[in-house]
Amino acid sequence: MCGIVGYVGRRNARDVIIHGLEILEYRGYDSAGLAITEGGRISVVKKTGYVARLAKATERMGGGCGIGHTRWATHGAPSEINCHPHTAGKFTVVHNGIIENFAVIKRRLESKGRKFLSETDTEVAACLMDDLYKGDPTEALAAAMKKLKGAFAFAVLCADCPGEIFLMKRHSPLVVGLGDGECFAASDCSAFCGYTDTAVFMKDGEIGVMGEGVFTLYDGNLVKKTVRTEKIGGGAPCGQPAEDFMKKEIFETPAALRDTVNAVFGDDSLKKRIIDIFSKNDKVVMTGCGTAYNACLMGKSLFERVLRVPVEAEFASEFRYKNPIVDDKTVVVAVSQSGETADTLAAVRLAKSLGADVVALTNAGRSAITREADLTLLTAAGPERAVAATKSYSAQAAAFLCVATVLSYDMKTVEKIREEICCLPSLASKALASAGEVKALAALYGKKRSVFFIGRGPDYALAVESSLKLKEVSYVHSEGFAAGELKHGTLALIDRDALVIAIVTQRHTAEKTLSALYEVKARGGKIMIVTPFDDLIAENRFDAVIKTPPSSGLTAPVTAMIPLQLFAYYMSKERGINPDKPRNLAKSVTVE
Ligand code: AGP
Repeated sequence: MCGIVGYVGRRNARDVIIHGLEILEYRGYDSAGLAITEGGRISVVKKTGYVARLAKATERMGGGCGIGHTRWATHGAPSEINCHPHTAGKFTVVHNGIIENFAVIKRRLESKGRKFLSETDTEVAACLMDDLYKGDPTEALAAAMKKLKGAFAFAVLCADCPGEIFLMKRHSPLVVGLGDGECFAASDCSAFCGYTDTAVFMKDGEIGVMGEGVFTLYDGNLVKKTVRTEKIGGGAPCGQPAEDFMKKEIFETPAALRDTVNAVFGDDSLKKRIIDIFSKNDKVVMTGCGTAYNACLMGKSLFERVLRVPVEAEFASEFRYKNPIVDDKTVVVAVSQSGETADTLAAVRLAKSLGADVVALTNAGRSAITREADLTLLTAAGPERAVAATKSYSAQAAAFLCVATVLSYDMKTVEKIREEICCLPSLASKALASAGEVKALAALYGKKRSVFFIGRGPDYALAVESSLKLKEVSYVHSEGFAAGELKHGTLALIDRDALVIAIVTQRHTAEKTLSALYEVKARGGKIMIVTPFDDLIAENRFDAVIKTPPSSGLTAPVTAMIPLQLFAYYMSKERGINPDKPRNLAKSVTVE
């Protein structure tokens, strides 16, 4: 994880770096630092906490060349000492990734008399570069790359080369932006797309050198490579919303659904490629992490229902180590909002090595996962900055539903489902209208210590996702599970302090789920129902009700997620937590 930024040019490097770090803060926000070269001297400033603290502390800095970092701690606590940049001799370094053999290298360097200030693997890498330095920084980086194991993207200043930034990459993302007399580097091009629309996506094993408007690229043996540029979407990224990104993004769900549905249904060549890739395979596996995995659970449920084909859903973090039963007759659908989650990327690479076809379902068109996939399906949800995935999850669920209809032979049913899918944006808008009631419920239940979510079929997938959402932004203990499983153990946890929320969008299992809920009430727990069914609400036996817009059993789960995301959001606010930056988390998990 972590975000890195570099700049060389005529602008104030500090301003460009702070701007980039603010955008990359979704990658980690426990501390931030920068290093600027001015008058041949490198000045380093580090601060714990958000980038805003670093911005304040560096207001007066000048200089046209520098590097910056926003951190999600892997090695060592989030302290100022462990914060990047790290300096060893002539080298000042920022890093995203994990050096797996740092302990061995550290011992070797210590035996040569080297001293370390921090607990980080990054300082060890900086020290290794300095140890290998014989007057040419690129040679030191190339030699260091041969010794380093693990994932990394480095931006490096060398005291002997003011006005230059040295770059090196393996597995972690690193993009260079080329402007008029200036160069940018960042973990993600969103950090500099307000300045230039020309980018170079560095590949694993490459080393780069940035000067004022000059970028040189080498392979790991320092043989010069041709620099291939790509056009990226320019323009300034979205500013801070009036309230929180999480709320703003939940309210953007109707547009995310509309654009995602149009992207699939409006593209005949994409539909053909979807049919080609799925029809030549016998088996479907869906994989992802966190919310993306929960979207796979929803995708599995929707695919099995529409297509009557079995689908496996696997955590990418498990898939990569389980010797998966995957071959050249398997299609693996890798789901990832960011397109750069390390476990999902590793699962994709493993699936490819076993001969499988890979379909990437992602919100990031130029991400690492799309570069490995045979086919990319884009969720057109737009940028998602809050750590909690919201509109991207809804867009993933809608995309699964669209793909299922594209693949279905049952033309009569398909026509009906397509009509329902096209209503998703307006259903989502109706679901958003419940925000006021949901806020009031969060005020009522804000002090609960445990919240359980239950459901069956696709509602089980929603229960798991609702629970994850609540945990990550409100820190309330929560579990999501299949409604019928409650009585097989978890019921022992139910007392007067528990809140159990039943999600009921499926008519055929409604009564069964309610039985589980009444078992909770009988034991003193509070019960809430989230449902589109008026007759169930009329039973009037619930402590709280969230009514969702009525629609078919296929589309109702997609829109029912919206009030549940709002519930997590308002619980977060109720408990005085910043929902956009919950503790210990980062938006993009690019390490194992
Ligand atoms: C979602 O709210 C979480 N922040 C997290 O579980 C996330 O979904 C997971 O890390 C996967 O990210 P990705 O979709 O970018 O691959």
